[in-house]
Amino acid sequence: MFVSPLSVCIFGAAFLTLGNCRCQTDSPDAPIPEQWKQTLPQAWDNTVIRSLRESPTRNLTGYAWTLDQVMDGKGTINVCMRWDSNETVTETMREQILAEYTKIYGYWFQWLSGYDNFPFSQVNFNVVGWAVRDQNILQGSLSSFDTYTNFSDESGFPTCNPACAYHNNLDGDYSECPGGPEQRYHQFFFLDQGFWGDHNMGAASGDGIDVSLYGWKTVGSKMDDWPILVHEMGHTFGFLDYLDDGTTNPSVCDNVWIPPNSPSEFVMKPSDYGAHVPKVTEFEGWLLRYFWSRFSRLRGWQNTNTTYPPPPECPSDSS
Ligand SMILES: *[C@@H]1O[C@H](CO)[C@@H](O)[C@H](O)[C@H]1NC(C)=O
Ligand SMILES: *[C@@H]1O[C@H](CO)[C@@H](O)[C@H](O)[C@H]1NC(C)=O
Ligand SMILES: *[C@@H]1O[C@H](CO)[C@@H](O)[C@H](O)[C@H]1NC(C)=O
Ligand SMILES: *[C@@H]1O[C@H](CO)[C@@H](O)[C@H](O)[C@H]1NC(C)=O
Repeated sequence: MFVSPLSVCIFGAAFLTLGNCRCQTDSPDAPIPEQWKQTLPQAWDNTVIRSLRESPTRNLTGYAWTLDQVMDGKGTINVCMRWDSNETVTETMREQILAEYTKIYGYWFQWLSGYDNFPFSQVNFNVVGWAVRDQNILQGSLSSFDTYTNFSDESGFPTCNPACAYHNNLDGDYSECPGGPEQRYHQFFFLDQGFWGDHNMGAASGDGIDVSLYGWKTVGSKMDDWPILVHEMGHTFGFLDYLDDGTTNPSVCDNVWIPPNSPSEFVMKPSDYGAHVPKVTEFEGWLLRYFWSRFSRLRGWQNTNTTYPPPPECPSDSS
């Protein structure tokens, strides 16, 4: 079985603190490791190509991902918490959920601290709303966030006011949101009982993460690693799943393409199609760094004269 370099490697690594996460990363000043110099641009191209094919409205360069959100929030990502259960939520549970969320996102964000002009040494998560079925579900002080009981998504699950969603107001006009821009939420975190039932599963995109409430109860609430969540958080950065069907597809045009020199398992490529890799691997740390380098120049967050070639033309029938 593959052992993540992060879990064993203490050589040549910087020790960074981000939120609750004290983890190992490669130094932010280190050059891209030789074995991934070709791979990282290919992974970007593959993601652009696949995202246009698989989810055109959520293509890599067009949609608003977590890096867009952290820039919009100047280092703070506002979260709408969603709770699909009749069980009550105490203040302590709310604190634990936020702490775990912050910690697991830290597994990703620690790779950006100090790297290529990423402007934040720490990324904060601020809960601006809780969406529940009934007001009585929330116990304790409710003063630090808005409570939403009157909004549901297309499946009928509780959600925060869509007028306060970042993705619905990319022009920055929050005049329909009662709390104005301060109460906007960049993403949601949905603890979902109705859809997943007693399965440790989840799904995510740039606008939020939907994991089973069962996963919180059986894994997350232990306040340790939460493999499903670190995987779903990867999707919020725009990463797609890397599936391995055993074939070797050398072309980045292929949907089933495995990054050359990547480890046999990593967070976005769990070998059993579930998600059980607990920590961001060194390869993915560099993948995120590379995506930052690309996004920050594409969006104009930093101005250097670095230019990148466009993705290759792919045959339209490629799959
Ligand atoms: C990419 O996504 C954006 C945002 O949804 C959309 O406006 C744009 O048309 C998409 N690009 C293509 C080529 O589909
Ligand atoms: C939750 O409460 C609602 C309204 O009180 C009720 O209709 C629903 O059946 C309850 N769901 C469960 C799973 O108990
Ligand atoms: C939510 O809806 C109920 C029932 O329609 C209504 O009585 C209540 O005032 C609404 N609350 C808010 C905050 O809009
Ligand atoms: C980019 O190029 C322009 C024009 O050649 C130059 O004035 C500017 O200093 C360069 N910027 C950087 C960051 O190298």
